[in-house]
Amino acid sequence: MLDLKGKVAFVTGAGSIGAGWGNGKAAAVLLARQGAQVFGTDLNAAAVEATRAIIAKEGGDCSTHICNMTDSGSVKTAVDACIKKYGRIDILINNVGGSAPGDPVSMSEEVWDSQVDHNLKTAFLGCKHVLPVMEKQRSGAIVNVSSVAGFAHQVDGRVHIAYSATKSGLFGFTRATAIAYVKKGIRCNMVVLGTMHTPLVEERLMKQLGPEAARDLVAKRHAAVPIGRMGDAWDSAHAILFLASDEARYITATQLVVDGGLTAARPG
Ligand SMILES: NC(=O)c1ccc[n+]([C@@H]2O[C@H](COP(=O)([O-])OP(=O)(O)OC[C@H]3O[C@@H](n4cnc5c(N)ncnc54)[C@H](O)[C@@H]3O)[C@@H](O)[C@H]2O)c1
Repeated sequence: MLDLKGKVAFVTGAGSIGAGWGNGKAAAVLLARQGAQVFGTDLNAAAVEATRAIIAKEGGDCSTHICNMTDSGSVKTAVDACIKKYGRIDILINNVGGSAPGDPVSMSEEVWDSQVDHNLKTAFLGCKHVLPVMEKQRSGAIVNVSSVAGFAHQVDGRVHIAYSATKSGLFGFTRATAIAYVKKGIRCNMVVLGTMHTPLVEERLMKQLGPEAARDLVAKRHAAVPIGRMGDAWDSAHAILFLASDEARYITATQLVVDGGLTAARPG
């Protein structure tokens, strides 16, 4: 089950901000545990090296590449490096993303543009440069990482209009890409993550709110989830693994919501 031996996985944002497990890091390690050769890319050399070291220690195979997923040339170079090293790409995990607070009036145009780049352009460029490789192979699986913020107007009463817009945009991007490539043996799906307790959350909330308010908000977030806790990076990674695996061979153009029941309990 969920055997990835012989497959090459290109994981973006395969490091993690801060100590512990981000979604990209956990996904990279889990895919490697299932036998995939992992090509981990990240802006942060130390972060992705930490992922590589974990995989190597467990006897897996991981190569790393420093890449800015918002820059087409940088992504193309990374894809070429992956092909040079492994000869193919079977799985693409478009994991790079993150939020910035603000409503249409308070958010600067610069922040809006950078959110669009960070959350949408990264997935676009990943697909742009990896799809031709998968098309030649006549096979491939893409998983885009979205958020319940794309479905809800706010999370915790905090507005992040560009994050909501771009993560919602991934929904259309995923479905349209899936249908454009369905006859070519390529599947494209999306995980929609709820409130996940990852280092990025801690780091960002600490910066935005300070330690005490950040701790309060994390406690509130745990309590708000019907299942009784926020998710963690392994909850994301298991969903990503499933959609990337051959067991999901009949699944394309859809999304797997990984939110402990959050959106069902709090629609809209
Ligand atoms: N953490 C959550 O609560 C949560 C909830 C819903 C969705 N998500 C989504 O999960 C994904 C991963 O989030 P995370 O919190 O686990 O972070 P993470 O720790 O997996 O990823 C951050 C990594 O991405 C790298 N990165 C940032 N910009 C990059 C760029 N332009 N090019 C290449 N690498 C870059 C960082 O250096 C870092 O190592 C994001 O798309 C995020 O929106 C997270």
